Amino acid sequence: MAEMIGALGLASEQVERVLRSASLAPSVHNSQPWRFRLLPDRIELHPDLSRKLPATDPENRELRLSCGAALFNLRIALQGLGVRPLVTVLPDQNPSGALATVRRGGTLKPDDEMLALLKAVPTRRTNRRPFFESGVDSRYRHALVRGAELERAWLHIVGSREEVARMKGFVRKAHRIQQEDPGVRAELDAFTGHRPGATDGVPPASAGARPEAQDEWAFRDFHPGQEHDRLSGKDYESNPLVAVVCSYYDGALAEVQAGQAMQRVLLTATTLGLSASFMSQPVEVRSVREELRRSLGSLLVPQTVLRIGFSTPVPATPRRPVAELLMEPTISKG
Ligand SMILES: Cc1cc2nc3c(=O)[nH]c(=O)nc-3n(C[C@H](O)[C@H](O)[C@H](O)COP(=O)(O)O)c2cc1C
Repeated sequence: MAEMIGALGLASEQVERVLRSASLAPSVHNSQPWRFRLLPDRIELHPDLSRKLPATDPENRELRLSCGAALFNLRIALQGLGVRPLVTVLPDQNPSGALATVRRGGTLKPDDEMLALLKAVPTRRTNRRPFFESGVDSRYRHALVRGAELERAWLHIVGSREEVARMKGFVRKAHRIQQEDPGVRAELDAFTGHRPGATDGVPPASAGARPEAQDEWAFRDFHPGQEHDRLSGKDYESNPLVAVVCSYYDGALAEVQAGQAMQRVLLTATTLGLSASFMSQPVEVRSVREELRRSLGSLLVPQTVLRIGFSTPVPATPRRPVAELLMEPTISKG
C-alpha cells in the first residue's frame, strides 16, 4: 500500500490499520457507506452515496450516523498510535463533499480508557440473540450515559414501565409500516441471506433468532424466506435495557456527532462485557420518530434505539477491503 505513505505523516501500515479500525464500525444493513481521501495533512471522511438506502433511510440520517461511528473508530485508532486527532465535522453540502476531516494535532499518550475502547473495536458486534434475564445494573448504565455525554450527546434510558410499554408500541407500529413498504423490504433482502463472497450485508450467522409471534419487541428480520430456527417457546429476555441515543439539535452535523456518541456507547458496552443490538424502526419511520421525539420532550432528537444486555458471543460480519474505501486521488507522498 505504498500509495498511502504520507497521510498525517504515518507509515502505510499505520494508515491501513487506522482505516481498518474505521471500517469495523456498525452501519445500517452493514452497508459500510463511507470512503476516505488521504492527503498529506489530513484524512477526509466522505459519505459513499452509492451505498445509501433510500427507502429505509430517506434522508441519509443513518448513513451519517454510521459515518460518525467510523469517525470515532478512526479517532481512537490515531490516538492508539500516539497522534492527537484534530477533527472538524463539516456542514452539509460543503464544496469537498466530506463529512469530516481529521488532521494531526500533535502527539499524545493514549489513556487507559481510550486503549480499552480501541481494543473493543474488533470485538464489538451487533448481537441479535436473546439476552440473559439478568438486568443491567446502574453502574453499567452510568458508564454508558457518560460515554454519550463525553461525545456531546445524550443517552436516554427508557425507564418506567409506562415508558417501556410506549416504546414497544412505537417499535411495533414502525415495524408494521416498514413491512408494508416494498422498498424497505427490497433493501433488507439485498443485504440478507447467503451471499457467498459478500463483503457487506448481514449473513445468516449474524441474523439472530427468527422472530416469533409471542415476541414483545419487533426485531428486524434478517431471515426472509427461511424456516424458524428458534426452539418453540424460547423467548427474548423480558426486560432488556432500552436506550435512545439523542442529539441536542437536528441536521447533518448533529447526526455525525450522534454517530460518534453511539459508537462510544457501543464500545463502552463491549468493554463492560455487554452486548447490544438496534431497534431502528421507530427512528426510521418519520411519523413515529416525531411521536418518539415528543415523548422524550422536545429538546432531544432521537437518533437510534439500542437494546443492551448480557448474551453469548456472535460471529463478526464481513467488511470491504480497505483499498476499496479509498477515494482518488490518494495523494500522499508529499
Ligand atoms: C444507524 C444504525 C441502525 C441500525 N439499525 C439496525 C436495526 O434496526 N436492526 C438490526 O438488527 N441492526 C441494525 N443495525 C446494525 C447493523 O445491521 C450492523 O451494524 C451491521 O450489520 C454490521 O454488523 P456489526 O455491528 O456486528 O459489525 C444498525 C446499525 C446502525 C449503525
